[in-house]
Amino acid sequence: MTRATAPGKIILFGEHAVVYGRPAIAAPVSQLRATAVVEDSLTPGIRLIAPDLNADVLLHEAPPDDPVAAVVLQLQTAAHLTHLPDLTITITSQIPVASGLGSGAAITAAVIRALAAHLGLTDLVSDEWVSNLTFEIEKIHHGTPSGIDNTVVAYERPVYFERIQPHNRIEPFAVAQPLRLLVADTGQSSSTKVVVGDVRRQWQAEPATFEAIFDGCGHIARAARQAIEAGDLAEVGRLMNDNHRLLQAMTVSSPALDGLVAAAQACGALGAKLSGAGRGGNMIALVTPERETAVRQALLRASARTVITTILTATSPNLENGI
Ligand code: MEV
Repeated sequence: MTRATAPGKIILFGEHAVVYGRPAIAAPVSQLRATAVVEDSLTPGIRLIAPDLNADVLLHEAPPDDPVAAVVLQLQTAAHLTHLPDLTITITSQIPVASGLGSGAAITAAVIRALAAHLGLTDLVSDEWVSNLTFEIEKIHHGTPSGIDNTVVAYERPVYFERIQPHNRIEPFAVAQPLRLLVADTGQSSSTKVVVGDVRRQWQAEPATFEAIFDGCGHIARAARQAIEAGDLAEVGRLMNDNHRLLQAMTVSSPALDGLVAAAQACGALGAKLSGAGRGGNMIALVTPERETAVRQALLRASARTVITTILTATSPNLENGI
């Protein structure tokens, strides 16, 4: 039996604009994880089980859009394997789906790691390989992903990311003062593919306006990196508020997200913004230890379904994969 996990993620700065080549900053949420377990099977075929979704299918009978079947076939092609043994692959996840926390990318990365380890493909497996393979799957589900989600879940460390051809810029950065972040869920699901597609249509209709918004986001992400490296948390918070306003201008916020952002700001958070594709899903608030409890309560009063704390430090440990 082989088991592997991958974390959820938050986007701290630069979502959407990152699809258009501007820099962005993302971090893993290591306490929310997707897990894949691969076992040899006594019955023929590859069986895919997701108990949380009541799903139990054989690979060769899986619908064409089955996300896990696509991962297995992609890995088989990438590793040039003509034959796969009889297996059972079981997937569980603590990461809410369609909530901006990278659940799809985490499930993909966990399945890739567990399957590759089970098949003894240790020479092939690196964080970069897992990230690239996860990106191929993200393209099937999301159309035009930037590559930031697969990068942060595969490397499991905070990254400053810029989509550049042929090689993305992926840089770790110093975190002079840990960032204490509350992650609050609106409880409303949202499809990254739909929201990213909608931003694209608006960009095509009003290129000058959207290019200016994206430039603003890129400027904020660069300034945020400097502020994080300098330990200037007040500036990081201000930049989060600015980024949220630009995301509102892109029309990717929602009344629920705006309500949570306003509640956090009014209660003394250093800054707050939506995180991920938007129109639902999660928001993040930067807090001091002194204000953490009060801001958490304010978020819950403002109808957050859940609130978790995640602390961004220079390197977040990868619990299973030993980075
Ligand atoms: C989603 O986590 C982040 C987006 O910028 C999409 C992407 O970068 O692929 C909205």
